[in-house]
Amino acid sequence: MTLGERRRPRRTLAGVVAAVLLLLLLPRAAEPRTLLSLDDFGAVGDGVANDTQALVDAWSAACATDDHSFLHVPAAKSYLIWPVTLTGPCSDETKLFISGNIVAPESPDDWPESDRGKWLHFQGVRDLSVSGGGVIDGRGQQWWERSCNTPHNETENCTNEAAPKALHFEDCQGISVKGITLQNSQQSHLTFTRCSHVEANYLRVTSPEHSPDTTGVLVVSSRNVHIMDNLISTGDDCVSIVGNSTDVRLRAISCGPGHGISIGGLGENRSYHRVEKIKMDTLFISNTENGVRIKTWPDGCGTARKVKFGDILMKNVSNPIIIDQHYSSNKIPCGSKGGSAVTVGEINYVGITGTSATERAVTFSCSDAAPCSRLTLENVNLTMADGQNASAYCHQAFGKTVGVVLPESCLGKGDFVRQVAGQGDDGEDDDR
Ligand SMILES: *[C@@H]1O[C@H](CO)[C@@H](O)[C@H](O)[C@H]1NC(C)=O
Ligand SMILES: *[C@@H]1O[C@H](CO)[C@@H](O)[C@H](O)[C@H]1NC(C)=O
Ligand SMILES: *[C@@H]1O[C@H](CO)[C@@H](O)[C@H](O)[C@H]1NC(C)=O
Ligand SMILES: *[C@@H]1O[C@H](CO)[C@@H](O)[C@H](O)[C@H]1NC(C)=O
Ligand SMILES: *[C@@H]1O[C@H](CO)[C@@H](O)[C@H](O)[C@H]1NC(C)=O
Ligand SMILES: *[C@@H]1O[C@H](CO)[C@@H](O)[C@H](O)[C@H]1NC(C)=O
Ligand SMILES: *[C@@H]1O[C@H](CO)[C@@H](O)[C@H](O)[C@H]1NC(C)=O
Ligand SMILES: *[C@@H]1O[C@H](CO)[C@@H](O)[C@H](O)[C@H]1NC(C)=O
Repeated sequence: MTLGERRRPRRTLAGVVAAVLLLLLLPRAAEPRTLLSLDDFGAVGDGVANDTQALVDAWSAACATDDHSFLHVPAAKSYLIWPVTLTGPCSDETKLFISGNIVAPESPDDWPESDRGKWLHFQGVRDLSVSGGGVIDGRGQQWWERSCNTPHNETENCTNEAAPKALHFEDCQGISVKGITLQNSQQSHLTFTRCSHVEANYLRVTSPEHSPDTTGVLVVSSRNVHIMDNLISTGDDCVSIVGNSTDVRLRAISCGPGHGISIGGLGENRSYHRVEKIKMDTLFISNTENGVRIKTWPDGCGTARKVKFGDILMKNVSNPIIIDQHYSSNKIPCGSKGGSAVTVGEINYVGITGTSATERAVTFSCSDAAPCSRLTLENVNLTMADGQNASAYCHQAFGKTVGVVLPESCLGKGDFVRQVAGQGDDGEDDDR
């Protein structure tokens, strides 16, 4: 087993440095390990040749070894990879060390019909860490252009077809993605679907402000997810949490431009979504459409509860604090046509300061069918960018304020809500 670059004498020094780095970075150095390089499997890395098979073969080899395996994507090269699914579980821990660039084909026409939603797709993998300082570039320009979410005139065609999720982990456990750059994704940059024990730290995630649907980190029905120390600037949400997700922690994230941090849309097409135990703090959100948002579809089921947004600095954010339930006055129960019933409750906003790009800094637009309950605003101070007072809007929103709250809160008192929420609630105990 060798590290790459051997065939190129002029890179010897870089090779040695890389090898030393690898050794330094490997924990528990005494354990057996297998070192592999993508180049050993015939990858060319010139950005033109199709290196997909090399990646597939390298992954199979790394995955099959009985000891810790270490798969290196060499620096200063660009590996063109077609949509691919890499499956697990592997025999032991796997480390994917990306020092170079992994790039996607530019034309959507190059995507096989059966694979259009995916690019780098990991399925059923356990104990994988991805790191290395390299770049995963979706080169999504042509996907954005054809998306109907980009403005088009009548003579131009567009499509509602979902573009590929760039780096997608599905049904995975023990995944760590650290210290790489994800950019210009066709759709969401980094997605976790039905995963647990996930870390996504020290990432740089960027795409243009007007690239459609390019969510930074998308968490779908996953639990125990830590997203920390990231710089995210995309055309859609910096982080979006949907499905049945629980125990998600965000910390030290710089977000913007883009659409901000979002829980939801929950309950699309009358589906059941339950998002709870979400904690975020130390966020800097600037020049985004929303700051922290909870969004539910009118005819869905489920709940968003036990959420804490703390220590957030907003700068020129259009909707710094927003809950949007697309309120409907229909009282038909959850799942029935026309009834809004994704419940929203126990949401705490603590220590949120900064500026709003619009006059209305706080929007609690809740539904008549399922009013928002137990909202807490504590030490909130949002003003307009020009220093003027901002305002708050409430519809069917109940809760309390603690400390200084500016703009002055319009929350209704909570007692009434306890009763209303009690009727629709699942009766689960509260820890507050
Ligand atoms: C690239 O290689 C992969 C794996 O061999 C193959 O499935 C795919 O069709 C190739 N793409 C092109 C455009 O040749
Ligand atoms: C529509 O867009 C096409 C391509 O961008 C452009 O050539 C054309 O002039 C546009 N038509 C109108 C009516 O704006
Ligand atoms: C739009 O789509 C139609 C049908 O697929 C096709 O015939 C036409 O050439 C397309 N127009 C443009 C401008 O791409
Ligand atoms: C969430 O969980 C519920 C109940 O377990 C299930 O019915 C629903 O399909 C799940 N939703 C998603 C998006 O997985
Ligand atoms: C919701 O339903 C519509 C219409 O059937 C469909 O186009 C859309 O893709 C569905 N959305 C989801 C997230 O399933
Ligand atoms: C503030 O946000 C608005 C709306 O997004 C934008 O038009 C404006 O340029 C921003 N101002 C600054 C100083 O960035
Ligand atoms: C709220 O923030 C504004 C602008 O930063 C500041 O001038 C003001 O003193 C703050 N008010 C309180 C009560 O902290
Ligand atoms: C702005 O809000 C502060 C605090 O609530 C209030 O004292 C002041 O009169 C308001 N200014 C204007 C112009 O409404």
